[in-house]
Amino acid sequence: MNKESYTISKICCIGAGYVGGPSMAVIADNCPELEINIVDVNEERIKRWNHDDLKNIPVYEPKLEEIVSRVRGKNLFFSTNVFKEIESADIIFLCVNTPTKTQGFGAGKASNLKWLEICARQIAENAKGHTIIVEKSTVPVRTAEVLKNILITNTKKSFSILSNPEFLAEGSAINDLNNPDRILIGGEDKKAIEALSDIYAKWIDKNKIIKTNLWSSELSKLTSNAFLAQKISSINSISALCEKTGADIEEVAKAVGADKRIGDKFLASGPGFGGSCFQKDLLNLIYLCEYFNLDEVAKYWESVLNINLWQQKRISRLIVEKLFGTLNEKKIAILGFSFKANTNDTRESPAIKICMDLLKEGSFLNIHDPKVTSKQINKELKDYSKNEEYNFYNENSWEKTLDIDEALKDASAVVILTEWEVYKDIDWENKEFLMSSPAWIFDTRTITERKSINKTNLNYWRIGNEF
Ligand code: UDX
Ligand code: ADP
Repeated sequence: MNKESYTISKICCIGAGYVGGPSMAVIADNCPELEINIVDVNEERIKRWNHDDLKNIPVYEPKLEEIVSRVRGKNLFFSTNVFKEIESADIIFLCVNTPTKTQGFGAGKASNLKWLEICARQIAENAKGHTIIVEKSTVPVRTAEVLKNILITNTKKSFSILSNPEFLAEGSAINDLNNPDRILIGGEDKKAIEALSDIYAKWIDKNKIIKTNLWSSELSKLTSNAFLAQKISSINSISALCEKTGADIEEVAKAVGADKRIGDKFLASGPGFGGSCFQKDLLNLIYLCEYFNLDEVAKYWESVLNINLWQQKRISRLIVEKLFGTLNEKKIAILGFSFKANTNDTRESPAIKICMDLLKEGSFLNIHDPKVTSKQINKELKDYSKNEEYNFYNENSWEKTLDIDEALKDASAVVILTEWEVYKDIDWENKEFLMSSPAWIFDTRTITERKSINKTNLNYWRIGNEF
């Protein structure tokens, strides 16, 4: 390292969530010489990260427990000492939440940067020496400018701001962090970019590190998520057409995805995308386009979001229709509440809207999920009931079941909403007796096989394959 470079020995990460926790654990694992302190204002969350029994850490992610057990207390620490850790850090990663604004200008579209702004003020007050600030949370384009303004006007200290968006997908986070397709670093200060790049270069090929200006980096993250979401809405729109024409969505996806220009990933038709990123980032992109009077562009991306909502609605409607137009007094088993398999995250999960629609029709739900707690399910449903259309919500109209059998017991239908491995292994021939005949299976994730269901007396609907 030459004299002109920054020396990095201590990292502070603000935000111990789905991004901060796994990404810092992987840096700690690959860079034993660095000390990493993850801080969060949420005491309960920090307590769980420090829990002796690793089963209690707040983020469920395959291989995460293993890594945390290796590095926690060695070079990775969790605490609520936000000010102290900011003060001694050479580099600070911002991994706080940036949900969609619920009120004020841009409500329903723009991101709420409240938490990011609070962090910037805390940093302005407590940082010592030169500090590199890394935006890792997904943020709207030109957020770095907001950070810069707060840091520069509030202090005489010096800062470099970098944008380093995280591309990990939940459920495969550890693998994504250890073997990313690319690392993106945007910024103006070349020395700061090199310092961050040197950390990643400890385990990632330097050719995969893309360096851009700040705004390209921020916009690339929104665009990547918008393209991925667009692929899902495209295949979901075709799933409905398959059901009308006799085509099979999996056969179509396979044939279409074999074209290298299209690619075979992200073509699994399902109940629509959930998670904390796709909807939020699409809304950000739409807001940005509208702000710059690019109405056609805004409408284009809006249609990706509309198809997603439509897909969820059409599934709920279809279930009601197949069950003779009424769900009153009927029990329905819901298999899976997380927004995808291998995560306990339920943010924007399609299960929320579909469950609420089924509850609205008078059904009682037996909900099963291997990793989501009943407290979490209740919070999601309750939050959603703030929409006027769903203010009928009653906490006693569902229960979380401990196992799959209990969920199926006396149910008129089972709806598979998450593609958890345990649901793929269900032997339906041995389960149908638990249900209330004539029972239905609604498979929104194409994880069941028509051949084996045909051996049972169950009625069957599988997304994108009606015949
Ligand atoms: C996404 C991006 O993949 C990641 O790069 C970014 O950093 C954050 O947002 P994530 O939301 O964690 O990651 O998971 P992802 O695997 O992208 O799935 C998002 C949603 O799309 C899930 O609800 C999933 O079930 C759905 N999906 C995904 C499909 O319906 N079909 C597919 O083929 C792929
Ligand atoms: P993500 O999926 O982006 O990681 P999460 O909601 O899982 O989002 O995590 C964000 C974390 O950031 C939360 O645990 C929240 O308590 C924390 N947080 C938000 N603002 C601050 C702040 N000013 N200081 C410390 N922690 C914060």
